[in-house]
Amino acid sequence: MIISGAASQTLAVRLAATLDEPLAPVEYDRFPDGELYVRLGETATDRAVIVASTVSSDAHIELLELQDAAREAGIEQVTTVLPYMGYARQDKAFKRGEPVSARALARAIDTGTDRVITVNPHEPGVREFFDPPATIVDAAPQLAGPLPEELTAPVFLAPDTGATSLARSVRDRYGTGTIDAFEKTRETGDTVQIEPSEIDVAGHDVVIVDDIIATGSTMSAAIEALTDRGARRVFVVCVHAVFVNDARSKLARAGIDGLYATDTIERAASTVSAAPAIATALRTQPA
Ligand code: R5P
Repeated sequence: MIISGAASQTLAVRLAATLDEPLAPVEYDRFPDGELYVRLGETATDRAVIVASTVSSDAHIELLELQDAAREAGIEQVTTVLPYMGYARQDKAFKRGEPVSARALARAIDTGTDRVITVNPHEPGVREFFDPPATIVDAAPQLAGPLPEELTAPVFLAPDTGATSLARSVRDRYGTGTIDAFEKTRETGDTVQIEPSEIDVAGHDVVIVDDIIATGSTMSAAIEALTDRGARRVFVVCVHAVFVNDARSKLARAGIDGLYATDTIERAASTVSAAPAIATALRTQPA
């Protein structure tokens, strides 16, 4: 039985089809004061998978409510799939006095689940914040799927060194190409400085690979540097299409030839499904 959060229905439907599991009926509403209301319909099962990207504070609350409703319905084995785990970038107290927000939220999620699965969290170390067994799924290789078959001397580029392993995952699945990384310094929440590498991209097709596109600042700075250096075409792929404010149009203005993301967050660009990778993890006992 798959129980979907309101923001993760496309992925939940695909996961249910992949696993040949039924989808639980769920009612999502609000009380007059704005508080969230969920109601799980009749479910004759003792095992369930809750699929809920915590893309907002409301989505976090809704997940906790769904977990509690599952327990109330007598479901004994609950697995929580966080296709996108919100607050995962706050995995340490960067300044004195700050919380480790990822840990705080993991603690809340822990109380209603027997297992956690999450997809490409920004820092894999967040797995340690969960008490029940937690599995990390890598959906990045699937991002090679929609790329044109005949890329010209492709370069798989990480816009910062932290994304190099993702660029390698996509290149390996694509089958051919060079891997490279730029250096990035974040100046404010939505401004970054990119230091391009020495690689010659003139006449090459470039695929920029990142885990998250949030404000789009990282990507647009990387695209600009590539365009200045004569890249033939620029494709952008990411796991989580957070797309804050004008991020999507920022990318279009920067000039791209294709944009593909997974369905951990539902956007028009989320044409690549993380469902097969999650299904494989669900079929495997946690280590
Ligand atoms: C940070 O290191 C991540 O890998 C992404 O590069 C970052 O989250 C992208 O954020 P934005 O789109 O706001 O530049």
